[in-house]
Amino acid sequence: YDDEGNPLRSACVKGKFVPDWPLVVDNIDNYDKFHARGDDIWIVNWPKSGTHWMFEVVTCLTSGKAQLHDGIKENTMFPEFCPVDILDDMTSPRILDTHIQLELFPEEALKTSKIIYTVRNPKDAFVSGYFHLSRDNLVGFRGGWNNFFRTSMKEIKEVPYGTWYDHVRGYLAALENKPNALVVKYEDMIKDLKKEVRRIAEFIGHQNSEEFYDEVARVCSFDHMQKSKKELKIIWKPGGSMYRKGIVGDWKNMFTVAQNEEFDAIYKDRLKNLNISIDFEL
Ligand code: A3P
Repeated sequence: YDDEGNPLRSACVKGKFVPDWPLVVDNIDNYDKFHARGDDIWIVNWPKSGTHWMFEVVTCLTSGKAQLHDGIKENTMFPEFCPVDILDDMTSPRILDTHIQLELFPEEALKTSKIIYTVRNPKDAFVSGYFHLSRDNLVGFRGGWNNFFRTSMKEIKEVPYGTWYDHVRGYLAALENKPNALVVKYEDMIKDLKKEVRRIAEFIGHQNSEEFYDEVARVCSFDHMQKSKKELKIIWKPGGSMYRKGIVGDWKNMFTVAQNEEFDAIYKDRLKNLNISIDFEL
């Protein structure tokens, strides 16, 4: 922990900044050794942008069954945490999650595999990250919201996965016009989940009936997921959950006026550089 109660740090390994967690540092070569498959489906995003949500939608579609995983035996892998032989042993289609920055993303996968990049507005992602990490037993953040806000604005040489902006800008530029990439907004999933489910199904080539898409949207609704998902209790302090509020605009309950102004001053020009609009409220 630093003086601000912050345990989050980056490590520099072979000239690249990665989260300073033993599992990541030990497995950093995985991305070089990774064997991409044409039918791999990657779920990529900055942390707290709906990784688990997208995973459930995608697995419903690939399995043709509108049902949630039991949460403990998830057939998903973050390659940054996992030895490459385990990834090699996974059956196809593999569904792989990652938050790793573009420069470490396997080149072959970028060319051949299916990539779903989810974007969530950064203010809500910061707040979601705060509640996750301050209630998490593995990486407990003890610094309070003001310090977390400051931490969330830091560059990759200081904090795991770097700034929201670098992540999103990097991937959106690399994935633009690629037939093997789909960009999905968290806020669009909130607005009309069935429509996004249909888009995702068409993209990954697992089309199904309208009735099936209705069912997937129902089981993947926030209320249903929050109620039904079993979570590993040892991960969380009291009140901790991967399914906290699931709304757009919760940042308004956390950002002070000054933080909002500071954020907007830095992000105003950055957001103009992106080729999508970001929804901070609906
Ligand atoms: P909040 O903390 O704002 O509630 P990730 O899976 O990338 O860690 O993202 C977690 C965020 O996604 C949490 O946000 C969580 O509530 C939200 N989320 C998970 N499932 C959801 C769903 N079915 N509908 C809406 N939001 C969902």
